[in-house]
Formats: sequence, structure tokens, C-alpha cells
Amino acid sequence: MAYNTHMNFWQKIKAEKGMILALSPMDGVSDYPFRSISKKYGQMELVFTEFANVEGVCLSKSTQILNHFDFDNAQRPLIAQIFGKTPKYFKQVAVLLCEMGVDGIDINMGCPAPTVSSHGSGAGLIRTPDLAREIIKAVQTGVQEWSEGLLLEDCEDISTQTIAALRDKKKFFALEDADRKRQPTVSVKTRIGIADDEIESWLPNLTQMNLAAISLHGRTLKQSYSGRSNWEVIAKATAIVKQNSPNTIFLGNGDVLDYEEAKQKVIDCGVDGVLIGRASFGRPFVFLPSKQREEFLRTHNLFAIALEHAKLYEETYGQKERYNFLPMRKHLAWYTKGVEQAALIRSELVRSNSATEVAEILKKHQLI
Ligand SMILES: Cc1cc2nc3c(=O)[nH]c(=O)nc-3n(C[C@H](O)[C@H](O)[C@H](O)COP(=O)(O)O)c2cc1C
Repeated sequence: MAYNTHMNFWQKIKAEKGMILALSPMDGVSDYPFRSISKKYGQMELVFTEFANVEGVCLSKSTQILNHFDFDNAQRPLIAQIFGKTPKYFKQVAVLLCEMGVDGIDINMGCPAPTVSSHGSGAGLIRTPDLAREIIKAVQTGVQEWSEGLLLEDCEDISTQTIAALRDKKKFFALEDADRKRQPTVSVKTRIGIADDEIESWLPNLTQMNLAAISLHGRTLKQSYSGRSNWEVIAKATAIVKQNSPNTIFLGNGDVLDYEEAKQKVIDCGVDGVLIGRASFGRPFVFLPSKQREEFLRTHNLFAIALEHAKLYEETYGQKERYNFLPMRKHLAWYTKGVEQAALIRSELVRSNSATEVAEILKKHQLI
């Protein structure tokens, strides 16, 4: 692809690096501290936030849901992911994300969780393609109208508390005011179908929408996380996307373990890049090419990184209402994978309540 100034950041990365490697969005996992640590040590090109529910952003009395969108400039390009089923809320949350200064807005059309998909959101949208397209249009309209001057204050379902919380966040994370000439891209992450491969009927609904990117997890909604991600279907989907919408970046996803496997998928399936999710738990180095990965493992102590992660978690959320250390514990367990005496160390780490306690445990076992 020839490089030109009209390219969006997806296309620029593809042109510069040959492929795009991204940290997949993961609810309950890819919060701000996890993304910071992953990006610092894994140096992947893109990170996605956990998904946040647009109905929740607009209707909830609490502003806690905005924590899903926390980011700083070091995480750019940052893609915020949202889910839901109500176009008018998608439009207003798109305006909110523009105001926050994210680089991309991704719409989740892949979540199989019954609490999401059985209500018609996430992968449930594969059943209602007209609504799926309406939602994409709503987000694109929100972005467009914001770039033409629409104010967050003019969005009827965004409360004054939400606007105040957003301003506080921008201050906390040192985010400058967003430039209305820099519109966030709009993309979709989805699955191959409800019970079977439906890409031939489903994907054209997306490729006609002028999306910057489409990410495809090679499982159906019914499969949830069972079986294997079907990369043959992903390869077939590449052809559909490239034929119908050649400027749309297309990423494959599912069961990829490291940089080399991702590169092989790009070669074998023709995708522009790959999202890696679960393989990165406690292992930010999986995004590095093998030589750099070996060097990383020679020169870094993963437990020092675990402690850095715990400290960042505490610094970020320690002062927030309803703060607790619980969500950090699973990460600590993941950092012990493949370590001698892992069971004992893990059992202590998953009972820790602060970064200070984590440091004590790691010191006691002479791990830092
Ligand atoms: C704990 C967990 C939470 C997830 N949350 C999201 C999410 O918020 N949005 C999304 O699009 N996908 C979500 N996913 C799906 C992943 O992004 C990814 O598509 C899936 O795990 C397959 O990729 P992998 O085999 O590399 O993990 C989640 C997956 C896991 C395991």
C-alpha cells in the first residue's frame, strides 16, 4: 500500500509495518493498568478498551462505567469499544468518545454472553442486520456532527455528572482537548455467525458501511469460546471484505499465541493483522518477535512487572469510590504461569489486598 496523508491510522500502520498486531478488547481484563503494562512491554500497535454499554453510559446514575474508557497518550492509537442496541445512545456515546479524544470507536457485534447477546446486543446483532447497520450509521453520524461542532452538552441523555466526570478524567490522564478536525475512526468487531458460518450474508452488511476496520473472531455465537477459531472461514472472509470494501482494514482473531503465529496468519489468510487476547494474560511479551522476546525474558523479571502493574492499579483506582483490589488478583495469578512453586506463590498472591502486600510476598519468595 502506498503511503499517503489521507490514510487513517489503521492504514498507516499497515503500510509502515506490513501487519497490525493489536491487544484484543477483554471485559474485566483490559482495563487502563493492564493496557499500560501490555503496551509498554509488548509494544503492540493498537489497544482496545474493554467494552462499555451505551445504555449504561446514558442511563446509569453512576459515572463509574466511564472508567472503561480510561487512557493516556502512551496508549495511542486507542480504540474504545462500545456495545448495546439503541442507536440514539450509540450516537451520543460516540460524541462523548470524540470529546474524550479517542482515536477509534469500535462497535461490539461479537459478544456471546447471554446477558448481552440474548438482549439483541453484541453477537445478537448478527440476527438483526438492519439494526446493526443503523447502529453503525448512528456512530458515524455522532462523529460527523461532533466534527461540525456538536457539543456534548447538546446530547440529551448525557448527564451533567457524566460531563463533569469526563472533564476530571481528561485532567487526571493529562489528555488535551480533542481536535474536531481529527475524527475517530469507526470499526466493528464480530463473529462468523450465530450457529454456522454466515459470513457471506452477514459481512456485506458491514462492508457497505465504509468502516475503517473489521475484526473477525473465527467462532460462532453458539460456540462461545469452545472449539477452535476457524481461520479457513477468516481467510474466506478476507476475500469478501477486500472485494467489497478494499480500503477497510481486516483483522483476524482467535487462539493466536504469539507474534510468529500472527505473522503466519497474515501470510496464510491474507488478513491485515491479528488481535491477540487470552495469550497475553501475564505475558505482555507475546507481541514481540522471537528475538526481542528472548531478549526481553533475559533482561526482565516478570514479577517486577507484576508489582509495577499492581502499583499502577492502585495509583489509578485507589482513590475511587467502591475501590477494591480484587480485579488485580487474577493478573497476579497469570504472572506466575510456568514458574516453580507457582501454586504456593499464586495462593498467596490471590489473597493480597494491596501492592505493598504483593511486594512482601514476592520478596519473601525471593522473586524480586
Ligand atoms: C475475559 C474475556 C473478556 C472479553 N471481553 C471482550 C470485550 O469486551 N469485547 C470484545 O469484543 N471481545 C471480548 N472478548 C473476546 C476477545 O476479544 C477475543 O475475541 C477472544 O478471546 C478470542 O481471541 P483470543 O483467542 O486471542 O483470546 C473477551 C474475551 C475474554 C476471554
